[in-house]
Order: sequence, then structure tokens, then C-alpha cells
Amino acid sequence: MSCTFDEIVKKENALLCHTYGRYPLALSKAKDCRLYDLDGNEYRDFLAGIAVCSLGHSREDLAEVMAEQAKKMVHVSNLFYQEPQLELAEKLLGTCAADKVFFCNSGAEANEGAIKLARKYLRTVKNEDRYEIITLERSFHGRTLSTLTATGQTGPIKDGFSPLPEGFITVPFANMNALRGAIGSHTAAIMLEMVQGEGGVRPLPADYVNEVVQLCKENGILLIVDEVQTGVCRTGRMWAHQHYNITPDIFTSAKALANGLPMGAVLCTDEVAKGFTPGSHATTFGGGAVVSAVASKVLDIMLEEKMAERAWEMGTFAAEEAQKIQAKHPDKIAGTRGLGLLFGIELTFPGAEVWKALLDQKMVCNLTQGNILRLVPPLTITKDDIRAFMDVLDGILQSVTIQSA
Ligand SMILES: Cc1ncc(COP(=O)(O)O)c(C=O)c1O
Repeated sequence: MSCTFDEIVKKENALLCHTYGRYPLALSKAKDCRLYDLDGNEYRDFLAGIAVCSLGHSREDLAEVMAEQAKKMVHVSNLFYQEPQLELAEKLLGTCAADKVFFCNSGAEANEGAIKLARKYLRTVKNEDRYEIITLERSFHGRTLSTLTATGQTGPIKDGFSPLPEGFITVPFANMNALRGAIGSHTAAIMLEMVQGEGGVRPLPADYVNEVVQLCKENGILLIVDEVQTGVCRTGRMWAHQHYNITPDIFTSAKALANGLPMGAVLCTDEVAKGFTPGSHATTFGGGAVVSAVASKVLDIMLEEKMAERAWEMGTFAAEEAQKIQAKHPDKIAGTRGLGLLFGIELTFPGAEVWKALLDQKMVCNLTQGNILRLVPPLTITKDDIRAFMDVLDGILQSVTIQSA
């Protein structure tokens, strides 16, 4: 099938549910840190499938593992023991303080599992009627009904889906008084992203996180950390919570786990894992042999090639370069922030025009919250790529006029 861009758009409008605000770009190929459109034009990729293809696109080594496993065993169901799943579990648990893992297929499913596990553990193991989950404003936890309710955002994301499940409270970002005030006898867990991604690349302050840990201990509340976007080396550590020296009761992962194949994981302590018993939670595809084999290889590469250190080095470099641009355009850049290669440039004005101009000049990134350019490139991105992005941004900011919302 080889269609023109207009034909593709027309076909899609006729065939697919209209859930996505697509970029005006159809891609035919992705390799390393580059994307290619239908005409073979090359784009530098600062999106990585939204923090998914952290090792770069279309890798030979991962394709080989995928093909080898696919020839041996693709899917047999979770009714059977399977070694690839265990090999992955062993490696994954070796990267953190968690003791047990449940594999699933996406970030939302991982968070859904985490919420279920927290409630089940408190009810059946601790014998306490705790079910409320507290999350933060502007958080993003997924689009299933529960994770959508947990998500601290309003608008089209939630409109029309009521009744939403009970038992979720959202409090202002990094506001300890508000959090304390929200805790009651039914509070089960506090669920946090260490750096809000969709919410505008907002890292949580360390003193807030430490107080949350204390608060959880004092009140018998579980701490769930959503590492769907921040995990697997993205922020400069294998897990973002390791920057904060904390051990969550439960944390979730997805996105980069299998570098583009769908996979999610719920990781927890031995104690909390007692909440799940046979029949209490399951998935048909989760932890399948192919995706597990690929994720194992991803972890090997992440560790062997010191990707966390690389993410930190490149993130620091991106911050330095962006600050130089900010110094040239203080009226147009309000600030830069992030952790490792989860990096944001906050514009002082709505950023759609800047984002589009970047795309026109073959730089792919994401605009979140209307004015924040979010950069989540493959961790294999080079300094040359980062410099090229900042040069193009500099040129655009020289010519763009500030428009109000
Ligand atoms: C922090 C966070 N949690 C959960 C999700 C949902 O993941 P998925 O789209 O795989 O369901 C996302 C997706 O962007 C995310 O960034």
C-alpha cells in the first residue's frame, strides 16, 4: 500500500474512531533517533514514541531476539509457567527494592493493577476498610475508568464518561497541607509521578516526597509511584524514585520496558504482594514470551550501555543548551525543567506555532499543557542532535511574535 498523505488522512477519517489529534505527518520508517515520512524526509526524534523507544528505533539486536522467541513460542497463556517471564522478572527486580512483579500490557493497566492491589491488600491482609486513592492535580495515570478518575485533569479527557468510580481524591500539586487535609480513615494510597510528564514536566520537590513517605508510614497508607513515563533510565536513574532514595510500596512501569512492544508491570514489596491471590487479578497477554524476551534484552542493554548515566549526561547538556537559548529570549522562555531526558522548555505564550515551526524544520517533539515543549528523545540521542534542536528553536524564537492565549 503506498498512499499520499491526503489519501491516508481521508482513509483514516473513514476507518478509525477519531480519538487522536494527529500530527500532520505520516511516517513510513523509524531508525535510531530518526523518523522518515512518506517522501523519505528525515526528522530528528525528540519524542521516542512518547518516552517508549528509549534505545532508539528498529534495533537489529531487539529484532533478532523478537524473531528467535517468535519462532519458539509466542503465546500459550498465563495458565502455564514460562521461563522468559521469570528471566525478565529476575532482571527487573534486580534493578530496584521491589520483591514481586505482575506483568500486564500498558501503563493504564499497570496503574489499574496497582490500585486494585492496594485496596485488596488493605482489605484482605490488613483487614481495614481503606479504598481511597489520593492523586495530584495535573497528574496523568491512564484512560481506563479508574486511572482516568485518578488522573488530576479535567476537560475532554473526563467529559461524558460519568459515573466515574468512587474513591479518588485529587489535591493540589506538592501542597503538603492539602494532602494532609485529604487523608481520612478510608485512605488507602497516595499515588504520585516523581516527575509529571503530561502535566508539564514537573518534578516533585524532594522535601515534599520525604514528607509523603513519612505521612504514609504514620497513617498506614501505601505509596504508589507511577513510573510509566519516568522509568527504565529515562530520568538518569533506572527508576525516578531512586533519585529520592525512597522505596514505594508499589510502583508501575510500562512505556520503555520493551522499547516499543506493549508491556506494563506492577512492582511491589513481598508484604503488599500478599494482596493478590489466584483468581484476584489476571491478564491474557501480560508477560507473554516474546515481549518478555525483548524486555529482558532491553534491560541488559540499559545496564551494559549505562543508559541511566547517559540520560543524565544528555539531560544536563540539553538543560545547559536550553538555558543559553533562554538567556537570548527571556521574554519567550519562562524556564526549563525536568530530570534527565524527561525535559521541558516552558514558553511564556501558547506554543502551537513554535511546535509546528519545529516540525516544519524536521524536529519532532511534543507540546504539553499548551506551552511546554516536552523532549523525551531516545536515550541514545547525541549532543549534535540536541545542539541542532536548540539552534532551530533559537531561530524560531527570533522570528516568532508572542501571541496571547
Ligand atoms: C505517567 C503515566 N501514567 C500512565 C500512562 C498511561 O499509559 P498507557 O498509555 O500505556 O496506558 C501514561 C501515558 O502517557 C503516563 O505518562
